[in-house]
Order: sequence, then C-alpha cells, then structure tokens
Amino acid sequence: MPRAGVGLSALATTSAAILSATPDAIERAALLLRDGALVAFPTETVYGLGADATDDRAVAAIFAAKGRPRFNPLIVHAPGLAEAEALALFDDRARALADRFWPGPLTFVLPRRTDSGLSLLACAGLDTVAVRAPAHPVARTLLQAVGRPIAAPSANRSGRVSPTEAAHVAAELGDKLALILDGGHSSVGLESTVLDLAGETPALLRPGGVTVEEVEAVLGQVATAAPEAGAPRSPGQLASHYAPDLPLRLDAREARPGEALLAFGPEIPPGFAETLWLSRSGDLVEAAANLFALLRRLDRPKFTGVAVMPIPERGLGRAINDRLRRAAAPRPNSARSAG
Ligand code: TXA
Ligand code: MG
Repeated sequence: MPRAGVGLSALATTSAAILSATPDAIERAALLLRDGALVAFPTETVYGLGADATDDRAVAAIFAAKGRPRFNPLIVHAPGLAEAEALALFDDRARALADRFWPGPLTFVLPRRTDSGLSLLACAGLDTVAVRAPAHPVARTLLQAVGRPIAAPSANRSGRVSPTEAAHVAAELGDKLALILDGGHSSVGLESTVLDLAGETPALLRPGGVTVEEVEAVLGQVATAAPEAGAPRSPGQLASHYAPDLPLRLDAREARPGEALLAFGPEIPPGFAETLWLSRSGDLVEAAANLFALLRRLDRPKFTGVAVMPIPERGLGRAINDRLRRAAAPRPNSARSAG
C-alpha cells in the first residue's frame, strides 16, 4: 500500500485542502487516515473529524485539534453491523435497532470487546464504546476503503456548533487537518441519537437524528434524562455546549432591540433586525437540517442576540430543543454572561 506521504506536522501550519468527494479524493482520504492523519468527512448528521480509532497518536490528535477534554469519549464509525460487532458486544436489542436504523443517525453505547483493538483514548478509558454506521454515501465508501474503525467527533472546536458544511469545518479547524472531504450539506443536520444499551434499561444519552418515538417503537419505553438533571451519564452532555458567541433567547414571541430571529412557521413577530427561517412551513425535518448553518449565519456582532421562536417538543423537535437549550445555557468560561 503506498504511503500518502503527508505527515501531520507538515500540515500543522497550512490550511487543509477542501476536496470535492470524488472517488479519487475518497481514496486519498483513506490513505491519509491509514497514515495516522486527521481527515474531516461528511456524514448525514454533521461533518466528522476522523482518525484511525486503533491509533493512539491519531486519536490524541483529534482531542488536541478540537481542544476537547480527554474524559469525553468519541464515537467510533464502522461501515455496518458486521464490522461494529468486532468492536462492541451487541445484544438482541442493539441488533434489532441496527437492523431497523443502520446505516443511519443512531449511535449505541455498548460494552467494548476486549479484543476490539481500539485506542483506549478513543473510549476515554471506559469499558464501553459508542458505535455508529453512518448513511452518507461518502462516509460509507470512505469507511470501506480505510478498512479500520474511524473515531470521529463532530468537526468543530469543542463547545462550538457542529458543522453541516465543509466550509464550516475549514473555518474552525482548517489549519489542523490533512484534508476536508466536501460532500455537500448534511441532510439531517443534527448529531446522531446516542442510546446507552450497556445496562439493562436502555437510556437516551442524546436526542438526535432518530427520534425517541422511533426507538421506542422497537424497544418499548426508553429512559430519558432531563437536560439539567444531575451528573451527565454521557461525558459530553454538559449543559453548556453547541454554543454560538451571541446570547440565544428561546421561546421568543416578541422582538428585543437589535436581535435577529430564527423563525419557525409562517407567522412571525415583527421588529427583528433580521429573520431567517428554520422552516417556513413548520416542518421539523427541514428545521433540523437548517439549524446549525443558520445559527452560524446569525452569530455576528452586528446583532445583540439571536431569538428563536418556540419549537414543538416532539419528533426531531426534541433534538432541536436539546441543542438550543445547550446553546442558550450559561457559559462559565466565556466572555458573555448568563443572559
Ligand atoms: O452524528 C454524530 O454522532 C457525529 C458524527 C460525526 O457521527 N459525531 C458526534 O460525535 O457527534 P461527538 O464526539 O461530538 O459526540 C459523541 C457523544 C458525546 O456526547 C460523548 O460523550 C458520547 O457521545 N459518548 C461517546 N462514547 C461514549 C460512551 N462510551 N459512553 C457514553 N457516552 C459516550
Ligand atoms: Mg460534538
């Protein structure tokens, strides 16, 4: 196998190339990944920041590039159930769900196989691992070409909004990556649903692209934790996350001076400095796909804040509201205060 010949250090100061995801570009990305480099690639949820999940150095580079705390484990991506079963212990529940929703926006937390070969750093030293088989054709082709599990968190700096376009990745992490594969706008637009199946009772750790209603149709009732309740079971589920720079105000029904509006539905309150629609028709699937890109577009100093109209708490609305609540949560280490 030829080496890609591009080391991480050589790329540290230059900006990563964004390549349209042609078969050649995907092949190049696979070689880079096998060589231990970082490659951003499209999935149907959000763009991932990928590295060989069996390579400690490559995985360490993910944490460094994102500024992510090392106690927060990564999702490991596989082409399908057969490959995922080499990493984690699947039970009947996990197989039934994989059968129904894979490839797709659903991640399982399962007991890690002792012979998985995974970097312990990818799993933050836990005896569980989060696994997912993404549906995006570029991600699928890439995973098959690499032939190794790929650890990939969302390709944003830690605590920021996840990227749904290649340009978002380039803006935040461009100087830290070997390559960014451009596969267009992520169709789901929200991260995968994370479901903990390591214990007896299935627990929803993060609402996402597969709705709780859909999971419950297969499993029966699933435990869901209120966003602010107690210690997070998933290390990444800290209240403040996915945050833009501007303050975010939820359930907005009237304008405040200088605010921009993220609108949902045909009727909007007057007086906002600028209005962008999550979905004019009130469609939650469309709103999810638009959420992160529109948040980025409105996150500009010329506005005093971003107001968001109420989003119904059902279907994908739960995941949208989860991300909005996190984005609106007080950020202890940021320049802006709770308001
Ligand atoms: O849609 C997605 O899931 C995207 C794409 C790229 O696949 N990835 C993504 O990864 O959102 P990340 O690292 O940003 O979020 C992974 C979440 C975090 O909240 C993390 O704490 C949780 O999954 N997680 C990972 N491994 C876990 C484990 N063993 N136990 C509990 N939670 C885990
Ligand atoms: Mg993330």
